[in-house]
Amino acid sequence: MSQNIAELKQEFAAKLAAADSMQTLEEIRVDFLGKKGSVTELLKSMKDMSPEEKKTFGQEVNVLKNELAQAITEKGEELRRAELEREVASMPEFDVSMPADLDRGSFHPITLVQRECETIFKSMGFHVEDYAEIVSDYECFEALNIPKHHPARDMQDTYYLTNGQLLKTHTSAAQNAIYKKYRDDLVNNGVPIKAIFPGRCFRNEATDACHENTFFQMEGVMVDKNISISNLIFFMKTMLSEVFKRDVKVRLRPGFFPFVEPGFELDISCAICGGEGCPSCKHSGWLELCPCGMIHPEVLKAGGIDPEEYTGFAFGLGLTRLAMMRYGVKDIRDLNSGSLKVLSQFKEDK
Ligand code: DAH
Repeated sequence: MSQNIAELKQEFAAKLAAADSMQTLEEIRVDFLGKKGSVTELLKSMKDMSPEEKKTFGQEVNVLKNELAQAITEKGEELRRAELEREVASMPEFDVSMPADLDRGSFHPITLVQRECETIFKSMGFHVEDYAEIVSDYECFEALNIPKHHPARDMQDTYYLTNGQLLKTHTSAAQNAIYKKYRDDLVNNGVPIKAIFPGRCFRNEATDACHENTFFQMEGVMVDKNISISNLIFFMKTMLSEVFKRDVKVRLRPGFFPFVEPGFELDISCAICGGEGCPSCKHSGWLELCPCGMIHPEVLKAGGIDPEEYTGFAFGLGLTRLAMMRYGVKDIRDLNSGSLKVLSQFKEDK
């Protein structure tokens, strides 16, 4: 190996070992592999060599180039992992047994997460809609392509009032009203329907650490001409990257919901392990976060929108789940406990 190459390698190794941020790493990359970098200079020095020398030297430089590029990629991954670990370590610690500080009031953690999502969606031009907690069977099921006796109803048993109304089992129950509210603006003025509607939902559920009879979701819909799955992926990725304050990777798996076709389960890369697999993500590197899909033609029709002309996407984000992930709350029941000892811990986020 020529003297120059050996020296350059040594210098590179020392600099790489000392790099402690992505920025320094990028500087090193430019210094060595950039257009005016040391490796490129080495290649230039070949012009006065004999063809034989050129051949061996050129090969050596190429091997060097690949080695350095590989080392930079590996160091980048190491730095990113360290950054992530620091981020996770700096997340607010949640401890049910902490003594309460009752001097000041505080927002509920779900309110905090909800408001944050609202701000993000508002910045992307979405309306924020409020909707009733008591709804009709039509709104909660029929208008969503879930007729009476459809097996999908089994998953969503709820509390029925004597007048036939019910406590809504999902925020999707507001979809029909939203379509009807904004339909004229869409059809007459070409204004896309873009709305989110957070809300409290209820199910007849045996409670445990992961299940509650009362929880929060945030539904979102967008309807316009030529809306496709790409729009769905873009909005979800942008929103989740904002919520988690990092560039999240998303993946879609097929999922069945009668009101979307095709329907998906959207997973995000696990923030704890950076996608490598850990107990939090059941070693898969992915966390299931948000079911979504392209709005079923029947659902659009029920909302007075012509599915031949318009398409749209819908998603149902679990706000309760998001709050649990964000604050490291392990038992969902803590959130509904009304215990000030638990809830007053979130006051610094106010
Ligand atoms: N409403 C569904 C539930 O609570 C969640 C859901 C799935 C909402 C798919 C959507 C969707 O908007 O597209 O189980």
